Amino acid sequence: MNTTDDQNILHLLQLRYGIVASSAVMIAPIQRLVQVAPTDLTTLITGETGTGKEVFAHAIHGLSKRRKHPFVSVNCGAIPETLLESELFGHEKGAFTGAIEQRKGFFESADKGTILLDEIGEMPISTQVKLLRVLESGEFTRVGSPEMKHVDVRVIAATNRDLLYEVRQGNFREDLFFRLNSVQIVLPPLRKHPEDIGLLVEYFASKVCTKNDIEFEGISDEALIILENMPWRGNVRELRNFVETLVTLENGQYITPELLRKYIPPALPSYEEETYNSKRAIIHVAEPIRREEHNESDIVMRSLLEVRNEIADIKRGISAIIDQIVELRSEKFEVPVIVSKSLEKTDKVLSEDEYNLEEMERKLIVSALTRYEGNRRLAAKTLGISERTLYRKLIDYKLTELV
Ligand SMILES: Nc1ncnc2c1ncn2[C@@H]1O[C@H](COP(=O)(O)OP(=O)(O)OP(=O)(O)O)[C@@H](O)[C@H]1O
Ligand SMILES: [Mg+2]
Repeated sequence: MNTTDDQNILHLLQLRYGIVASSAVMIAPIQRLVQVAPTDLTTLITGETGTGKEVFAHAIHGLSKRRKHPFVSVNCGAIPETLLESELFGHEKGAFTGAIEQRKGFFESADKGTILLDEIGEMPISTQVKLLRVLESGEFTRVGSPEMKHVDVRVIAATNRDLLYEVRQGNFREDLFFRLNSVQIVLPPLRKHPEDIGLLVEYFASKVCTKNDIEFEGISDEALIILENMPWRGNVRELRNFVETLVTLENGQYITPELLRKYIPPALPSYEEETYNSKRAIIHVAEPIRREEHNESDIVMRSLLEVRNEIADIKRGISAIIDQIVELRSEKFEVPVIVSKSLEKTDKVLSEDEYNLEEMERKLIVSALTRYEGNRRLAAKTLGISERTLYRKLIDYKLTELV
């Protein structure tokens, strides 16, 4: 997101629908959301549990011309198969045992509005046939009635299953899949956009603090790094619960690694995965872990120290390069300057007023971001600063359009 309009959209999504995001990875789904919301297109939202499928569906409805009409959410996985059809399409009195009176279904209730068919992958094949028909023509019949009814409903479907796989397994109709899949919003797992964790923590913490009339004192960079490296199998939902619990029980106290440690469960086989695993591998090579250091949090702390040392090395490296440039210039040597595409044309020897550390820093940031095609995480790593620091600098230097 780089234009003012985009920033306004992010602001609106947060304010009205509680969607918090600013990472490059979340840009595609957010742009798609904004693009499809005003249309009547059937939309399929996919993503692991807790990635925000439901909040996105709400936002689509809220940003559509249907917003004054009902938004009906149906969890297809929570309704027994035998009842789902009558719940969705209604039934006539006596249509089946227990149908003691006529009842309209969710589709009729959602007329002129939007229906969210959550966990669509759980829908039995027989109901899928009827759903396809409503999607094609808006027509359906109540269970036990021959009378054709017509509704004007926009359908959003959501699932954390791989529907194509279900199609191959014969559990999901191919024609329905293609009908639903015409517009797909794919929500990435949180571990694919850890750079949003800082914002999310502040958002959830501030909300819970306002609710409990306490003040949130913030989070340290070290603690944030730990959170950014946790696997979050339950995605944003898990992070939200974690933050709300910690902040409430600690009365909004400043979050440090020590404080976090109290809330990260001690036996964490899953925390040994991915990034974390690779960090531990580095520690093993650098200095074998002592036997008594089996505590997971100790290992995390040790890896943080390693990272901190690496950052210090990189910073020293950058200072040395700058010193060299200054030195070379004074000797009137031609200095080869790496010019990225998005940098303005730079003379090989810097002009006098360019000897400004801030300007140099700005150029290094632009260069790193260009090199990694706007990937803030990799750019920050190369620059030896935290992503948060990079983010602040991007704002200071008005470079946010590069990410
Ligand atoms: N981008 C986000 N910003 C802020 N909160 C979010 C975001 N994504 C998810 N959440 C929060 O996480 C929780 C879970 O979100 P939601 O119910 O939309 O997930 P889901 O993908 O529908 O999960 P499931 O598959 O388990 O139903 C909610 O409390 C929601 O507010
Ligand atoms: Mg859901």
